Amino acid sequence: MIDNNKILEELDIALKSVIDIESFTKIKVEYLGKKGLIANLMHEMRSVEDKKSYGQKVNVLKEAIEEKIKFIEDEMNKIKMKEQLMKDAIDFSLPSRKMEPGIQSVLLATAREIEDIFLKMGFEIAIGQEVESDFHNFEALNLGEHHPARDMQDTFYIDPKTLLRTHTSNIQSRTLSTNKDKEFKIICPGKVYRRDDDDATHSHQFFQIDGLVVVNKLSKHTASLQDLKTTLTIFAKEIFESDNLDIRLRPSFFPFTEPGVEVDVSCSICQGQGCGFCKNTGWIEVLGAGVIHKNVFKISGFNEEEFTGFAFGIGVERIALLKHNIEDIRNFYQNDLRFIKQFKK
Ligand code: PHE
Repeated sequence: MIDNNKILEELDIALKSVIDIESFTKIKVEYLGKKGLIANLMHEMRSVEDKKSYGQKVNVLKEAIEEKIKFIEDEMNKIKMKEQLMKDAIDFSLPSRKMEPGIQSVLLATAREIEDIFLKMGFEIAIGQEVESDFHNFEALNLGEHHPARDMQDTFYIDPKTLLRTHTSNIQSRTLSTNKDKEFKIICPGKVYRRDDDDATHSHQFFQIDGLVVVNKLSKHTASLQDLKTTLTIFAKEIFESDNLDIRLRPSFFPFTEPGVEVDVSCSICQGQGCGFCKNTGWIEVLGAGVIHKNVFKISGFNEEEFTGFAFGIGVERIALLKHNIEDIRNFYQNDLRFIKQFKK
């Protein structure tokens, strides 16, 4: 008769001697293999009389053996996995590969500098959408459908009434229409588009920061041309890092301003004496500005008699070109590391 307990004890002893996968497999085959112990016992069934109880006993034995074998197999798998993990582990004590920090693009850095100057003066930042309606990009800014000034701002159209904004003044128009009869002071940074051929001074895509100050005439605040000049003088002195710099306003035309002005800064190279850089005028044109046109207030639903304000539009590229003496606007977009690395702080 088979002695299950004895067989299982022997198996326990055998399994204790397992040192590697080979010695384990050998035992597994000895017991469960095709010519192993269980197979042999099954084979012998033929010559046994009480086949039923014999078969049951063998089956019980088989299951017990399988359980013991499986236990060891699982343990071995765990060890194997641990070993693999150890092998793949990262050694944190190794010195790391040196990674140079990136450099902020001079354009973005200039935009941030401009924003900081106005934030210090109490402006808030308003952002808007690049895909804009004809209404907010043009009509609400007093540029009606057939206004000739639209020619200078041809752009990319999504459909006849939807376009890529030509200036960040669209944010002015949107902020006005959602803040009716309220006072506010905002700057509007962002990317703008024009249907222009790229050259040293033009790009079909560039950055602007618009500014807008709206006051109620009956409040203690003012937003006159003089206030505009003071604000922009502070801006120019800060951005060009010069205390003895002056600005001047020249009459100009923007449909959304009345009056409109072109703002020049005294040439920092010759201190206004006249040189090659300022084409002997002593002045450098930097931005457009003006007092907000009554129609703009009216179209946005403001009480145009009670409110007034001023606006300005700064070209970020223009400021960066002047500030860093860069000759070609295309340098900003070409990702030439020799250019980019010059502005490492
Ligand atoms: N939006 C004008 C432009 O892109 C700039 C501007 C803004 C001029 C605000 C005056 C006032 O040309």
